[in-house]
Amino acid sequence: MILVTGGAGFIGANFVLDWLAQSDEPVLNLDKLTYAGNLENLASLQGDTRHVFVRGDIGDTALVERLLSEHRPRAVLNFAAESHVDRSIHGPEDFIQTNIVGTFRLLEAVRAYWNGLDDEAKAAFRFLHVSTDEVYGSLKSGEPAFTELHRYEPNSPYSASKAASDHLVRAYHHTYGLPVLTTNCSNNYGPYHFPEKLIPLMIVNALGGKALPIYGDGQQIRDWLYVKDHCSAIRRVLEAGRLGEVYNVGGWNEKPNIEIVDTVCALLDELRPRTDGQSYREQITFVKDRPGHDRRYAIDAHKLERELGWKPAETFDTGIRKTVQWYLDNQAWVAGVTSGSYRQWVETHYA
Ligand code: NAD
Ligand code: TYD
Repeated sequence: MILVTGGAGFIGANFVLDWLAQSDEPVLNLDKLTYAGNLENLASLQGDTRHVFVRGDIGDTALVERLLSEHRPRAVLNFAAESHVDRSIHGPEDFIQTNIVGTFRLLEAVRAYWNGLDDEAKAAFRFLHVSTDEVYGSLKSGEPAFTELHRYEPNSPYSASKAASDHLVRAYHHTYGLPVLTTNCSNNYGPYHFPEKLIPLMIVNALGGKALPIYGDGQQIRDWLYVKDHCSAIRRVLEAGRLGEVYNVGGWNEKPNIEIVDTVCALLDELRPRTDGQSYREQITFVKDRPGHDRRYAIDAHKLERELGWKPAETFDTGIRKTVQWYLDNQAWVAGVTSGSYRQWVETHYA
């Protein structure tokens, strides 16, 4: 079996669902169920004995040690993290705790477990660390996209904490020989995306008749990848990635934020027109910029394509249409995640 951490979050849950749709290899899912973790994302697996869920912290050494020795996974995939840049600006502590200390403790427990395996199991074992393009910092217009050789220049507490975790993973390979793989991916979008991030927030606010808050001039550029393509890249790297290597994952799809919001509005105008006949674009509002806002991210995913033959299956046009449709079809899920502490966050942050 494989051990997935953070498998009740956005990308982790998509990964677990995709994995079990394609393989009978069981998944042990360790997730702390923070505000971002939601068992509703995994509701379709209820009663499926191939999925074992454990609520817990990657930094809980005794728990992780027990899970490893009881379940004997052949791989550990680390998705667990605090992942929202704006939250890291308001309060970095949890990011340091989970992304740095948590990853460190997980690595220590995995190293001890791996050391106790027989030679064959040791050689076959993998620790795959899921990371972000944000560790490379910000690009100027016209600068080439990030390759795996780009220097680390993280600018937010979030990206700095992810950068630290990447360095620890690298060091555990270099120093202890732990068979690690790291993926650095661009912005994901798709089903089960928590509506604090740009695309789901815009869909949910548009449908709720609320403002669509665009930071600064809206000309910040991100590369966007449909989440299922990220999952297929991770499966491919796990299967055939070279030990100790880093693979950048991206969608070859750089777009300014304003264009993303415009596309979301156009799709909603088509699929669920406003009753007053106006466009959802009317709800766009420019708000104060994020402090230290990175201007541009772009990923060069040639290495992954060249070495492992991976390419995204979705274009932005197909992926964003599926995503908007998913939110329209899953209003109960949205209602479930936008209650309580979510509302409090939105009120504080956008005040
Ligand atoms: P998310 O915030 O939606 O989910 C994170 C999950 O981790 C949640 O289920 C949460 O409960 C769990 N978690 C948090 N702290 C934990 C802890 N201490 N122990 C166990 N579980 C814990 O995040 P996401 O968007 O699914 O991102 C998953 C991973 O992918 C993260 O490592 C993130 O840095 C990386 N990533 C995200 C994106 C993106 O666009 N969302 C892009 C590239 C990389
Ligand atoms: P986000 O989804 O938070 O991802 P990240 O900061 O990790 O790239 O934000 C994507 C972009 O959208 C980023 O440039 C910030 C911007 N943004 C807004 O303009 N308004 C918003 O309300 C949010 C949440 C993000």
